[in-house]
Amino acid sequence: MNPRINHRLILFPHPFQGHMNSTLQLGRILYARGFSITIVHTNFNAPDPTSHPHFAFRSIADGIDQSEASTSDIRGLLALLNVRCAVPFEECLQEMVSSQGGDAAPIACLISDSMFSFTCGVAERLKVRALVLRTGGAAFLYVATIFPVLKEKGYVPVLGSRSEEAVKEFPPLLVKDIPAVDPQKPEVMFRILDNLIEVIKNSFGVIINTFEELEHTDLASLREVLSVPFFPIGPSHKCCVTSSSSSLLVEDRSCISWLDEQPPKSVIYVSFGSLAAMSEAEILEIALGLADSKQPFLWVVRPESVRDPEWPQKSPSCFLEALEGRGKMVKWAPQKEVLAHPAVGAFWTHSGWNSTLESISEGVPMLCMPCFADQGVNARYVSDVWRIGVHLNGGLERENIARAIKRLLVEREGEEIRERALVLKEEASVCVGQGGSSYRALDALVSHILSFK
Ligand code: UDX
Repeated sequence: MNPRINHRLILFPHPFQGHMNSTLQLGRILYARGFSITIVHTNFNAPDPTSHPHFAFRSIADGIDQSEASTSDIRGLLALLNVRCAVPFEECLQEMVSSQGGDAAPIACLISDSMFSFTCGVAERLKVRALVLRTGGAAFLYVATIFPVLKEKGYVPVLGSRSEEAVKEFPPLLVKDIPAVDPQKPEVMFRILDNLIEVIKNSFGVIINTFEELEHTDLASLREVLSVPFFPIGPSHKCCVTSSSSSLLVEDRSCISWLDEQPPKSVIYVSFGSLAAMSEAEILEIALGLADSKQPFLWVVRPESVRDPEWPQKSPSCFLEALEGRGKMVKWAPQKEVLAHPAVGAFWTHSGWNSTLESISEGVPMLCMPCFADQGVNARYVSDVWRIGVHLNGGLERENIARAIKRLLVEREGEEIRERALVLKEEASVCVGQGGSSYRALDALVSHILSFK
């Protein structure tokens, strides 16, 4: 532990699991560097303060009620959070700025999630330096900077007939990898991305959960286009000296003892993050595909991701039989431990950024089934740039699922993919170690913050 620095950092996480994880991991990293940490958080999806006893926590009244908190309309919820949080956040920060000089350490800077559009303006008014935490990857952020070009070239809103077309301005992207834009309300997505770029341009720098060796080309492009300092300190979950859970759901640890009974590299781990939801038909195809694959599987089925509460009791007998020993279902898993377990041979994922980075960090090949937002870009990089996974091509059907799982777990192609995944795993490990690129970026970040005073 470094000597204490008499400076306080105010962290403001976006209230979704993937974003919360990265922010609290960053808090632990900067606490270990000697800073005092205060987490300002919404009442909606509030973090558990007992998991972080060294941090101070302050909640703000976001006024989001249960009916509005539905993640079925994520873009609507993003917009609502920006409307509802601006004033209570400013009041909270104002109070902390005014109470400096007492027993609280002076505020060195604010670090807020890049999805909040109002934070840099508030910080400027209160004369607090603001950094932005980007919890996604550099490639997607660069796509966000060229969105006006994609719009001008007619790639968005995407027309179904063009979805398999290459995006010539940004190889190897296909049109279907670009974040979907609702043709009825295209301005919603355009505004989200415009806000993201503006908040970064108005900040004193961007902390990003990736590492130089993984995304050096896109990081170089971002530094050129956005002209603010970037600090790629990831994989942030590998930098934390202490492991504390920031999980909003209770983890079912029985899956670890189940994994202990499985042969090495035999299990397909299946999880689609904290927001994606599936129809009953899709859930059924996944179940049948897993049953047909004949491979052991560990499947995370988040309660709110399935509309039918009777599921899986109503599943076909072949699936229920597969569950007798060969398959295991849990509502929420200790994912980082699962990916590090020797029995796990592949990860069927929606390609959320945290899941992607966690899989890279453990050298686990991926079967990518992107659903929305940045997942299409993340998945394309996994399959075509880093070549450490494959897309679930041909659609969500039992035959395609079984075939894709065999490609990764049984066939020669899967071995070659695993070899490449293990090289990236090593790079992810080296970069966070002393002298590594992320370690040096963290040193630069600390110096940058201390230069504010
Ligand atoms: C959201 C967006 O969907 C994603 O596209 C974006 O990149 C980040 O914000 P989410 O869908 O939750 O994220 O996916 P992801 O980024 O993968 O984060 C999920 C987190 O939940 C991971 O840290 C993962 O370790 C954790 N998790 C998931 C568990 O702890 N247990 C589980 O069973 C499943």
